Amino acid sequence: AINKVLCTRLRLSNFTTPDAFVERLHNAKNILVLTGAGVSTSLGIPDFRSSEGFYSKIRHLGLDDPQDVFNYDIFIQDPSVFYNIAHLVLPPENIFSPLHGFIKMLQDKGKLLRNYTQNIDNLESYAGIDSEKVVQCHGSFATASCTTCHWKLPGDKIFENIRRLELPLCPYCYMKRKEFFPNNSVAPSYDNGISEDTPTSLNTPLKSHGVLKPDITFFGEALPSKFHKTIREDILKCDLLVCIGTSLKVAPVSEIVNMVPSHVPQILINRDPVKHAEFDVNLLGYCDDVATLIAQKCSWDIPHERWNKLK
Ligand code: APR
Repeated sequence: AINKVLCTRLRLSNFTTPDAFVERLHNAKNILVLTGAGVSTSLGIPDFRSSEGFYSKIRHLGLDDPQDVFNYDIFIQDPSVFYNIAHLVLPPENIFSPLHGFIKMLQDKGKLLRNYTQNIDNLESYAGIDSEKVVQCHGSFATASCTTCHWKLPGDKIFENIRRLELPLCPYCYMKRKEFFPNNSVAPSYDNGISEDTPTSLNTPLKSHGVLKPDITFFGEALPSKFHKTIREDILKCDLLVCIGTSLKVAPVSEIVNMVPSHVPQILINRDPVKHAEFDVNLLGYCDDVATLIAQKCSWDIPHERWNKLK
């Protein structure tokens, strides 16, 4: 009965069925979970490349490539390209999806090796997934840094500026910037930055001089060092790779599927097929539905407030 019901909701690919995944799940002890924007869309957070995705919403900006809003070189030339849209990607608080709950369930069962997430919404933390078990491959809004002197501060200190479409300015560099841009009257004041040492280096008076940027990984920036520290060992240690809610379009995260040893089974849980990658198990459908089906077949409970309605 479950299969029949969920087949109407899940367009199961003709290669595999959930049972193939359930069997692998029971045997796995070191699952590497790779997630993308699709795991948060049921919360109303758009993904990037779907027809209703974020990039389609900013098409009106007339950028050659909508990804330019997250391009580091463009930010340095003109930070307003990002700050005109940053309010649209500010992370929500205290919510997580059944799929986030599913990952937490894997952690509780001692099966989660690591969750490599491409998302910057930090929702894994609200689901209770240990920070040690999460690698935010594309950074997050948790902190922000000055693009000139690299002074760091809690990310939420600039949320008000972001909501007011204002450039958040570094207090240390501001004074220097005032010489370059005298009509900039607003002197920023951040009371509790993270690093106390007063930075010295000052670059040329670019528009981005002394502008603070959330520590999300822009195109053209290196991924957080934690990614490089853990990925090599995790690739060799994992006994199952599960990719969820991602188009696998952005390297180096998209290359993980090619780095995992060939004997390690690879599972895709996604609304749309990912044509450029080969999976042993393809479960095409909404990830919350797939997670529900799998948990039911394993007689496991997903730690999520809607679990009793979902199952
Ligand atoms: N259930 C399952 N899959 C879903 C759901 C859902 N509810 N909603 C969307 N998807 C799938 C889509 O079919 C798509 O394949 O999630 C995928 C989202 O793909 P993208 O929008 O490309 O997002 P993502 O893969 O996370 O993008 C990677 O690109 O722009 C950069 O830094 C940004 O981290 C992001 C990176």
